[in-house]
Amino acid sequence: MTRILMVCLGNICRSPLAEGILKSKLDPSKFEVDSAGTSGFHEDELPDQRSIEVANKNGLDITDQRSRKFLKEDLKFFDYIFVMDTSNYEDVIALVETDEEKNKVSLILDKIFPGESQSVPDPYHNSIDGFNQVYDMLEESCTVIAKELEKS
Ligand code: 4NP
Repeated sequence: MTRILMVCLGNICRSPLAEGILKSKLDPSKFEVDSAGTSGFHEDELPDQRSIEVANKNGLDITDQRSRKFLKEDLKFFDYIFVMDTSNYEDVIALVETDEEKNKVSLILDKIFPGESQSVPDPYHNSIDGFNQVYDMLEESCTVIAKELEKS
């Protein structure tokens, strides 16, 4: 089993979409996909209504997800940890204990813009347009991730 974790700040807007999208592209008997937030502000909450809506529009149901805080142990359990922005990257890297753990962590947009350190913008204070844009970026990155994982 290969385990992949998607991480953002609240685990209600971006990483639930990333989890739903990647899950839809991988065989669940071989890959486990989860998501978490660095803050824990929204512990046990459903994804944001706007993320649920954008997911639905694209044929995905993400309402089985509940927000949870990112834990230090996640660095041991998961094989790949994709963060949405540079601030999430710093927060996760601050908990790393070994080079092996550090090497698991990367910005999700590095998959489509290698070496540019681009962030998925936080859509929380934005309109539904912001969520649609986030969806498109995540869809593109997850397509690359799924292709690479299936080859590995
Ligand atoms: P997310 O978006 O990190 O993509 O889930 C946010 C959700 C909530 C907050 C910030 C970002 N907040 O400050 O409550």
